[in-house]
Amino acid sequence: MNIESVNWGELSPEIFLKQYWQKKPLLIKQAFTDFEDTISADELAGLAMEQEIESRIISVNNQGDWQVDHGPFEDFSKYGEDNWTLLVQAVNNWSRPTHNLLSPFSFIPNWRIDDVMVSFSTPKGGVGAHLDQYDVFIIQGSGKRHWQVGAPDNTLTNLLPHADLKQVSPFTPVIDDITEPGDLLYIPPNHPHKGVSIENSVNFSIGFQAPSSQDLWSSFADNLIDNNLGEQRFSDPERALPETSFTITPQDKQQLKAFMLKNLEQESFFEQFIGQYLTQGHHALEILVPVEDIDESKLSDILSEPDISFMPVSGLKVAIINDKQATLFINGESFALESQTLALAEQLAQQKPLSTGEVKKLTVCLKNIQLLTNVLNKGYWYI
Ligand code: SIN
Ligand code: CO
Repeated sequence: MNIESVNWGELSPEIFLKQYWQKKPLLIKQAFTDFEDTISADELAGLAMEQEIESRIISVNNQGDWQVDHGPFEDFSKYGEDNWTLLVQAVNNWSRPTHNLLSPFSFIPNWRIDDVMVSFSTPKGGVGAHLDQYDVFIIQGSGKRHWQVGAPDNTLTNLLPHADLKQVSPFTPVIDDITEPGDLLYIPPNHPHKGVSIENSVNFSIGFQAPSSQDLWSSFADNLIDNNLGEQRFSDPERALPETSFTITPQDKQQLKAFMLKNLEQESFFEQFIGQYLTQGHHALEILVPVEDIDESKLSDILSEPDISFMPVSGLKVAIINDKQATLFINGESFALESQTLALAEQLAQQKPLSTGEVKKLTVCLKNIQLLTNVLNKGYWYI
């Protein structure tokens, strides 16, 4: 199968971004030719048995009563043949082929992507009509589902058929189709949608991250505190005589706002904060710290062997900021870069396996060896 890029047909990533992204839902039939599931239903069930992996089973009985069970699961037999869906979060952190499903979406920067959630549904299974606050691309894997997507509609009412299940009232679909293997559905935030499985079927949902302003402010404040910044006090040496003693004047407000914004405008601090914040994963990763630290001489031994590849841990979030100063961010950690280390950092950020030959070319200088051994010793890359 070819998942390197989407079969856009008459569209293109540019047209998609202009006309659809965050605006309109879209169904692309056969976006991927000969699509094959990157994980089997059995393997998915295996992941749902793990403590550190977030999973849910949503089921509905013939009376329309919804049930939500949270993993880890030990046994799936009680769920029977139909009317239920297993959803497993961040499967890309545990399955490299599933992580590779992100590559056709590289027209949206990596930091905007959250995870690949995989659902396995039995006939009539689904999670009901609902809204998400995030954009999602859903790739139909094996089987078929009936998908309906509507336009944002503030007359819809929120339903809570179960304490853990937010649904909305029925909506008028603008997309109403049966998805088949290789079809791709794009759903912008706050567009009601509902998928009902026709037969046993697997869906891969590429979910995006859009931080809330609340989250950004609270993380930023935590960062100021952790770095002992923002301890200076408000001052007002130019104060004029006030008209009353109880008024907070427009000038007072303005000065206080400017005083607070000064922290945001410390460019290098903001870069550190935002790079770390955006690359911080939200789900457990399979970090592979080496038993013994890899030093310069050990690395040169490794590089003398021809058939070794350097692999990134699946599901990592990696980004580079290269403005005034260059920094590589991996999983919420920062690595200062210099002009000599930028090329290696860019290779690492692409998260493709690197052969010893490729690494050798990139590690001719000591700074690169230090950067590489650093990411290997942290367990973000492995051999
Ligand atoms: C599903 O895969 O069943 C749900 C995906 C979604 O609605 O976002
Ligand atoms: Co959804």
